[in-house]
Parts: sequence; C-alpha cells; structure tokens
Amino acid sequence: MSLAGKTALVTGAGRGIGKAIALRLAKDGANIAVNDLNPDTAKATAEEINDLGRKTVVVPGDVSDRDKIFSIVDEAFTELGSLDIMVNNAGICQTKELLEVTPQDLEDLFRVNVFGVLYGIQAAAETMKKNGGGKIINAASGAGHTGVPQFSAYSATKFGVVSFTQSAAMELAEHKITVNSYCPGIVDTDMWAELDKVLGPKLGNEPRETMTTFAQGAVLRRVEVPEDVANFVSYLAGPDSDFMTGQSVVIDGGMVMR
Ligand SMILES: NC(=O)c1ccc[n+]([C@@H]2O[C@H](COP(=O)([O-])OP(=O)(O)OC[C@H]3O[C@@H](n4cnc5c(N)ncnc54)[C@H](O)[C@@H]3O)[C@@H](O)[C@H]2O)c1
Repeated sequence: MSLAGKTALVTGAGRGIGKAIALRLAKDGANIAVNDLNPDTAKATAEEINDLGRKTVVVPGDVSDRDKIFSIVDEAFTELGSLDIMVNNAGICQTKELLEVTPQDLEDLFRVNVFGVLYGIQAAAETMKKNGGGKIINAASGAGHTGVPQFSAYSATKFGVVSFTQSAAMELAEHKITVNSYCPGIVDTDMWAELDKVLGPKLGNEPRETMTTFAQGAVLRRVEVPEDVANFVSYLAGPDSDFMTGQSVVIDGGMVMR
C-alpha cells in the first residue's frame, strides 16, 4: 500500500490505459478522482474503485478546456482533501500520411494532447505548490522519442509532452513537485482498435492484425496491455521514484531504445 492516504486525479480514466492506472493507484491505497470526457465511463471506473474500498469522485470534462481542468482539480481537492498525484493521461490519436494532415487535424490533436497536458500541469501545480509538493505524471509515447510514419502529427504532440515534462520538472522542482512521463508502445485499447480500423484495410490486414504486426517490433514480441503501463505509473506515483524528475521513460517491450 505504497500510496495509502494519498490522492490522485487521473484524466481519461473511463477506459484503456487511464482506467488501468486509476485502478492500480487505488489498489496501491490512493483515493482517486476520475476524469473523462465521457461521464458514464468515468462513473463506471469510479464504481470499481469504490468496490476496492477507496474514496472517489467523478470529475468529468474536457482537459483541453483550461478553466474546466482548473475547476476539476479544485473539485478533486475539495472532495478528497488533497492532491498528491496528477496523471495527465487523456489523449487522442490519428493515423494519416503526413502530406494529408490538415490544419483541423493539428488543432484537434494539439488541443487535447499538448494543451490539455500543459493545462493539467498548471492546474495541478497551483494546488500542489500550496500543499507542499506532489507528483505530476504525463502520457507521452514511444512516438514522443522518434518520428513515426503515418503518425506524424500525433508523434509531434508527444514530443511536445516530453518537452513540457522537462521544462516543468525544472521550474517546479523548487516547489517539491516532480514531473515525469510514461511512453507506451502498442497497447491493446480502444484507441488501437480505432487505428486498426483505418490502417487494416489500407495494409490489407485482418482485424487486429495491424496491431499485432506492429507489436512484433518490440523485442519482447507481444502486444502491450494497459496493466503494463499502470505498473510503471504505480512506480512513478510512489515513493521509490522520489529522486526522479524530468524523465520520459519508454515502457514498450523494447521497441524504442533510449
Ligand atoms: N494505446 C496505445 O497504444 C498508446 C501508446 C502510447 C501512448 N498512448 C497514450 O496513452 C493515453 C491513453 O491512451 P488509450 O490507449 O488508453 O486511449 P483510449 O482512447 O482507449 O482512452 C482515452 C480516454 O481518454 C478520454 N478522452 C479523450 N479526450 C479527452 C478529453 N479532451 N478530455 C478528457 N478525456 C478525454 C476518452 O474518452 C477515453 O476514455 C493517451 O494519451 C495516448 O496517446 C497510448
């Protein structure tokens, strides 16, 4: 119970990696504020957290709305009594050839993946500064360390997350706030199910074949599961990572090596 008595807010926790993180941190002992754009899935995650015996609050809303994320952090703090851990997990993806990427694609992707993460850092830091520190953890990606064909705009957003992670770590250290990111590979979530629907027909693949083929690029040769990521985030959220900040660590079965 490394997080007993701690409080975490996890964005995009209605499904996929965010849900696995919220449940894992709850198992570690933390009370959890559950955010998602979709209030129904957020509520369902919160119910599972309640069943684990933790306190929880549902704080739905769009992380790319700056005022909203500040009010979400306030509500989490008021309802649960503290904010020790902020996980800026919510994100969206897109697969498209670079020459086809539109201004609207860029707006949509950057608004959630980069603006949303920065606003989450700002909102959490404001509260954590007053309360003696905390841990901010962001969703980057292996695609935040190397460009990826067919994923250029998404990859650029994740490079942005890596950059904000480093700058935030430098500026917030004096307030005892650490900032790190997790960088998954090919994780079996609804996000990949949607990518598979677009890429599969282009590549002449059966459903799920694209995801499993891409995952063969990992030396551990399997598709990643959300719990692989959640296990690492548990470390980032806990006391064993206290001396770590500014890092964006790849957790992908050995696909991208840094
Ligand atoms: N799945 C992968 O292979 C993979 C790989 C690397 C990084 N990531 C990153 O991990 C994070 C989670 O990915 P996932 O696979 O679980 O995705 P997912 O699409 O399965 O789940 C994302 C959740 O975030 C929510 N969300 C989306 N936009 C939001 C917004 N503006 N405000 C609040 N909530 C919002 C969605 O409703 C959804 O519940 C993302 O940042 C993603 O870029 C995923």
